[in-house]
Parts: sequence; structure tokens; C-alpha cells
Amino acid sequence: MTQNFIVIGNPIDHSKSPEIHHVFAAQAGLDIHYQRQYCPNDAASFTAVVEAFFHGGGVGANVTVPFKQVAYDCCLARGGLSEHAKVAGAVNTLLLNKDLLKEGSSVKEALYGDNTDGQGLVKHIISLGWPLNGAQVAIIGAGGAARGVILPLIQAGIAQLTLANRTLSKAEMLITELSAASLDIHHHAINSCTTDKLTGQFDLIINATSIGLSDNTLPLADEVNCHYAYDMMYGRDLPFLQHFAGRGAQTSDGYGMLIGQAALSFERWTGHTIDVNQATLALE
Ligand code: ATR
Repeated sequence: MTQNFIVIGNPIDHSKSPEIHHVFAAQAGLDIHYQRQYCPNDAASFTAVVEAFFHGGGVGANVTVPFKQVAYDCCLARGGLSEHAKVAGAVNTLLLNKDLLKEGSSVKEALYGDNTDGQGLVKHIISLGWPLNGAQVAIIGAGGAARGVILPLIQAGIAQLTLANRTLSKAEMLITELSAASLDIHHHAINSCTTDKLTGQFDLIINATSIGLSDNTLPLADEVNCHYAYDMMYGRDLPFLQHFAGRGAQTSDGYGMLIGQAALSFERWTGHTIDVNQATLALE
């Protein structure tokens, strides 16, 4: 029987998710139908779209910009949230809580949210062969993208984390909030500084700012170096990666993170583990 999936967003035409999930389904030998779902930009429309989809027998939905926080609110009031979704304050993967359905809850009451974005980054970094266990890591940025990756990186065993941001107070606030939300983060000291004050040798530096969307460049000090540089953006030239490539670092953009988070959503929904490297080759 064909299993149905959607990705909900606004805009949504550009989404690569259907293509990616159909490659996963071919790898897993499953018959799926995965389509883009446009939604007007308000919470009531989002809720209506989600409920109609799951009432119609849908198995899983991905959520993209601008609905990740709205999806979080929906699940908070209903079937629940994974630890990663709670800490991220955002949901990118929706499914139904089967235990609640068995206990007689309605589809509406059983909506459950997960967030695979940060774990997708970790999955990609591991597939690149970059070591995370014991690593000295810096993240630049303190918005939603940074928030989602801190817990998965700590759970992957990094030794030390520095959070650098243009606005220092936002980095400090994020650390305070995350420490209150997660014991793993609470027990892990995180340093903070402004981006221009970031100095030293790191194993890995991750750009989690949205600067790649503009023509601006980060004010990086000459005294900051790394073995590996990762930009969570993809699809255009990224000066951050060029900067560290010029200093001998290995680099990657965030396209593999997109595939990694999709693979984890797919695994969550279907129970099938995806070989991400093989899927990436099939997508080329
Ligand atoms: P996202 O959800 O993509 O993380 P966001 O929550 O708006 O988006 O966060 C954007 C991040 O990029 C912030 O860390 C922001 O720095 P500030 O907190 O100081 O605003 C960072 N950012 C965006 N444009 C930047 C720029 N031109 N220079 C440096 N940092 C920038």
C-alpha cells in the first residue's frame, strides 16, 4: 500500500524533499508518495492542513519555513514533543503518537513533533569522516539554526564548545535557555564571545548564521583556525568556507545536512535506516 507524506511550507516550490524521500524509498524498497504542500502563512491554516493530512491517512509530514515554531506549539498542546524538538523550540517532523491513538485519542490529539535538523548535521559530519568525539568546536551564530545543533553535538561527544555571535547577549541568552532545557547542556560548559573575538585553534567551526544569504562576510580574526569548517547554508558560494579552505581546512556546505535530517525523518516514520552516502550519490 502506498504511504503518503508531505512537506509543508511557504514558499514550498523550491523544496527538494520529495526528490530526496523518493530516493530513500527506492533504497528501502517502499512504495511512497511524497508531495509539496503550500500553506497560507497563519497558524489556523497550518493546523487545518496538518489535521486534514493525517485524517486522510497520511503517515508523516515535514515542516519548513515559516512553520517550525507553529508546529512546535501544535504538538506542545497535543501528543507531545521529542527532547530534540523541545530543546530546539521547533519541529521539522510530524507523526502521530501511536500510543495515544491506541488509548483512544483522536488524530488531532495525537500529533507528535520531532526535530531532526541538528541530528542531521551530526549524521552528515560523521559521514564525512570528521571526528566529533573529544572535538574542540566553535559555532558562529545564536539564532534558530545554532539552537538546533547544540544538543546533538554535545550528545555526539564534543569536548569543548564556544558560541560566538555578533550580538553577545543573544549568545549568552541562548546558553542560559538551553542549559535550563537540557541536563546534557547544563552539565557541559559553553564559552561565549563576539564573533570578532573568536580566536584559537578549533577542530571544527560551524557557521550557523544567516550571513550566507547576504553579500556580507563575518569579521573573523586572523588568529582563528580549524581543521574542518562547515556552513549550514548551501546552494551558493560561501565566503566562510572559502576563508578556511584558504587556510588549509577541509570544508563542507550544508547540503548533506539537508539529506541527513531527511534521512532521520524517514527513519522515524518508516523504521528503515538510510545509507546517506548512497542516497547522496543517487541524487547527483
Ligand atoms: P536562523 O533561524 O537561520 O538561525 P535567526 O534566528 O534570524 O536565523 O539568526 C540569525 C543569526 O545570524 C544570528 O546569530 C545573527 O546574529 P545576531 O544575533 O547578532 O543578529 C546572525 N547574522 C545574521 N546576519 C549577520 C551578519 N551580517 N553578520 C553577523 N551575523 C549575522
